[in-house]
Amino acid sequence: MTVTIARENAIAVVTVDNPPVNALSQALRQALVEAVATLDADAAVKAVVLICAGRTFIAGADVSEFGKPPQPPHLPDVVAAIEGAKKPWVAAIHGSALGGGLEVVLGCAWRVAVPSASLGLPEVKLGIIPGAGGTVRLPRLIGAAAAVDLVTSGSPVGAKKAEGLGLIDAIIDGNLRAGAIAFANDIAGKARPQPISSRAVAPVETGFWEGAEKAVAARAKREAAPLRALASVRKASETDFASAMAFERETFLELRGSEQAAALRHVFFAERAAPRPPELAGITPRAIRSAAVIGGGTMGAGIAAALRDAGLPVVLIERDAAAVERGLANVRGIYEGSVKRGRIPQAVADERVAGVIGGDDYGLLADTDLVIEAVFEDLAVKRAVFERLSAVCRPDAVLATNTSYLDPDAMSEGVSHPERFLGLHFFSPAQIMKLLEIVPTEATAPEVLATGFALARLLGKIPVRAGICDGFIGNRILKVTRAQAERLLLSGATPAAVDAAMRAFGLPMGPFEAQDLGGLDIAAFQRKAARERGETPFAPVADRLCALERYGQKTGGGWYDYQPGDRAPKPSETVAAIIAEAAEGRAQRTWDEAGIVDAILLPMVNEATRILEERVALRAADIDLVKIHGYGFPRWRGGPMHHAEARGLSEVVAVLDRLAGEGLAEPPSDGLRRAAEAGGFSVLAG
Ligand code: 3HC
Ligand code: NAI
Repeated sequence: MTVTIARENAIAVVTVDNPPVNALSQALRQALVEAVATLDADAAVKAVVLICAGRTFIAGADVSEFGKPPQPPHLPDVVAAIEGAKKPWVAAIHGSALGGGLEVVLGCAWRVAVPSASLGLPEVKLGIIPGAGGTVRLPRLIGAAAAVDLVTSGSPVGAKKAEGLGLIDAIIDGNLRAGAIAFANDIAGKARPQPISSRAVAPVETGFWEGAEKAVAARAKREAAPLRALASVRKASETDFASAMAFERETFLELRGSEQAAALRHVFFAERAAPRPPELAGITPRAIRSAAVIGGGTMGAGIAAALRDAGLPVVLIERDAAAVERGLANVRGIYEGSVKRGRIPQAVADERVAGVIGGDDYGLLADTDLVIEAVFEDLAVKRAVFERLSAVCRPDAVLATNTSYLDPDAMSEGVSHPERFLGLHFFSPAQIMKLLEIVPTEATAPEVLATGFALARLLGKIPVRAGICDGFIGNRILKVTRAQAERLLLSGATPAAVDAAMRAFGLPMGPFEAQDLGGLDIAAFQRKAARERGETPFAPVADRLCALERYGQKTGGGWYDYQPGDRAPKPSETVAAIIAEAAEGRAQRTWDEAGIVDAILLPMVNEATRILEERVALRAADIDLVKIHGYGFPRWRGGPMHHAEARGLSEVVAVLDRLAGEGLAEPPSDGLRRAAEAGGFSVLAG
């Protein structure tokens, strides 16, 4: 039973119970329509309270139904039935009223909520627009400007703000059910407000729509939904209710079938699957109430801030008193930046900074639950740190390394109780980037692995389990990206053309601009180490640039030239000459944007497939999350693996075969050929 009806004298209480989030499945839509009919026919009922069981109000349409043909009753009809009911319905909101959930709320005559409730229309985040009157009723209730904000950003508002906007009529402190019933008894004797659908939208200032269009287009970049949502609110403001509803529904159905919506849905479900690996079901993580970070450089300071933001007290250990001061200054710098950007008030920043105790005495760690090491990328230095940690920490304290490339198995040798050791690979800046690669060693205990996932949840990060290899998932793919970018240069493309093509594809930056920003020296150091191991990394141009100490923006030149104080990249004649020298004897060809994108992206997919075959990643969707949350891959493309599947893996194989024939890429792996034959990557997982 998704809906039950109870009576409290003259008030009927309709309770929705459709776990986990009361999504509007076909069964629930049907049950709501039937509830309207039942209560309309009951003369003893004066008003109806609509409330939800479980953790939230209705969180929206059932996204898992979106790939299938819509089944009646359709949501606009459900909302219309509630709005047209003979008895006034009162929405009683806790948790989130989102998407279709808020549209149902807009059908109700009255709306009340607990103080912690949030309300919003997040459809644009799924590549669609509201499809049951959200863009049409909302401006009629709260005005066009506020509606545009809510609908085009997709961000929810809290109960207090909602009350200020006129989106809800009252906030209920204490028991929601009792408060809503009291409210319903109160309004039952009053005149019923005019249904929202028959209200007019208050006129907007001249030029409002043009301004809104510019602002939304700038924010949305190449995402289609926000501008389409704006168009729908505009239509709703300029035409009658029925025409606006038809316009909204048509747009909703069109976008629902779009590639962007499919990609964004894929990411939505991937993000929800990643934190809960089935093999950890039922395993209780260790409690984390305090944390420490060893090393207060770029990463250590960022990790300390991430831990503080989650409310944990933090100890920051550095090499000596001067380094402690620098480390604490790095943490302060992060919070000063947040205050300057208006992200947090000064008082909050002060409190976060005060919660970090710096020192060079490992004795401070005697009772710490979790220690994350972020010292220099050097196995001997890291081993020495873990030796000291083994001596001072409680035997059940979780010990983690933030290494980018070193082998956590090798690092854990000599750690006492090695079952409490694992890799926690954060991305820079660690207090902002959402990705956390979680790397178990051979010895890591399941509850310690589960602790890594619990920590990610606490920090608001997306956890992805990664196996041990050079660079784990993300940086291993990054190496291929960079090698491909250089192959393009040797065969006729310029850094500017490659960067422009990747930006046009949707990345925030091309591979060469990104290297100039981060510095070319770190990768050069990795290549040196790889060569010492007998490997032959491919970077003929980058090697030559590093030999000239062209490390990027910080040295005034890298792949581009930079004027002092100016971050704008200028094509460099020096670099062009170096490329020409490195390319000598190689066939040259012309490259268009699509060709460049294929030559970078499809070899990434090829490497990612190997990562999947080797079980370094457990699911193709996890690789998509790594690229989206660690490297800025456009979310609306769904990640490289989704993108490849949507394009067709047979075509991906054919393009890679062609590139390999020209010496411009590795041939497709056996796994990729098998996935192409099977029509998807799932054949390689599990
Ligand atoms: N449809 C189907 N399943 C949904 C869902 C939805 N709208 N929202 C959440 N779920 C599922 C999740 O996949 C997850 O399933 P699992 O347990 O099997 O993995 C489960 O519900 C719990 O979700 P979360 O882990 O996200 O739970 P939280 O408690 O952290 O968050 C929430 C709850 C804030 C409601 C969050 O789930 C959320 O933001 N959901 C999406 C809401 C949304 O986008 N609604 C709009 C849908 S589009 C729409 O309504 C169109 C309409 O205009 C016609
Ligand atoms: P960094 O050079 O900025 O900071 C390292 C800090 O460790 C320095 O402040 C140094 O004083 C301190 N340190 C060195 N030896 C120590 C010891 N024995 N005890 C205490 N402190 C010590 O380096 P960064 O960039 O922060 O990198 C740290 C680790 O994080 C490395 O393993 C790196 O590979 C990894 N990493 C780096 C990323 C990046 O983008 N910079 C991203 C993800 C991981």
